Amino acid sequence: MSSDWTIDQDWPAYSAAEHQVWITLYERQAALLPGRACDEFLNGLKALDLHGEGIPDFREMNRKLNALTGWTVVAVPGLVPDEVFFDHLANRRFPAGRFIRRPDQLDYLEEPDIFHDVFGHVPMLTDPTFADYMKAYGEGGLRALKLGRLHNLARLYWYTVEFGLMQTPAGLRIYGAGIVSSRGESVFSLEAPSPNRLGFELIRVMRTPYRIDDYQQVYFVLPSLGRLLDDTLQDFGPIYGQLARLPDIPIDAIDPKDRVFTRGTQAYAKAHAG
Ligand code: PHE
Ligand code: FE
Repeated sequence: MSSDWTIDQDWPAYSAAEHQVWITLYERQAALLPGRACDEFLNGLKALDLHGEGIPDFREMNRKLNALTGWTVVAVPGLVPDEVFFDHLANRRFPAGRFIRRPDQLDYLEEPDIFHDVFGHVPMLTDPTFADYMKAYGEGGLRALKLGRLHNLARLYWYTVEFGLMQTPAGLRIYGAGIVSSRGESVFSLEAPSPNRLGFELIRVMRTPYRIDDYQQVYFVLPSLGRLLDDTLQDFGPIYGQLARLPDIPIDAIDPKDRVFTRGTQAYAKAHAG
């Protein structure tokens, strides 16, 4: 392992059983996502040829990705320290786990594996606006670390990159990697009566805690990817100053200023509490 935590993907070392896990997951999501994921995601999936024939070889995938937006996927052993992660993003490198989940973990695992990291994240990196956002996020992460506001910035990542929804003429669509890589949440995020679906507001999102153990209780809806990039290109210094004085907003709360797409029942969260 080098100082930036990258390792060789060692693609020839994957077993047939490991490729089969990718194929199973790919086929499930490929059937579910048309009409649910946004066009940017579906087009990216096609452009990268992240086929259902097995775990992608990063060397091949990177040639296509790099030509489109200048991004490269690098393999890492698992979660890396924040500073290392942000430094990769700031340099248009996306760190992805090289391991794949076991066949008994198709629906849930605690650590991101190559299916989440590559199938979930990389298609959006073919979109020039989203690609610029992710690079800016890396720079912003390094800054937030120094300013002690990483908990606020992490919420922005969570509610956009991982669990974001987008408004389109055809209806709400998914762009978040945590959703598109999960069979259950691909349906739940759009169709369940339980969660709130609220308009994206930068400061509002950074005041909202999130859950890492189950489906989200609130999703934030972007009007467009351009809006995400515009909002985040401003200097967050003054925003962090405001956030230091503002309390968190409870995860299931709706604020009078929120644009409400769906007022959730929270029935799922109540049934699964404790
Ligand atoms: N503009 C932010 C700052 O000044 C950085 C940032 C960019 C954060 C993009 C998130 C996403 O710190
Ligand atoms: Fe992720």
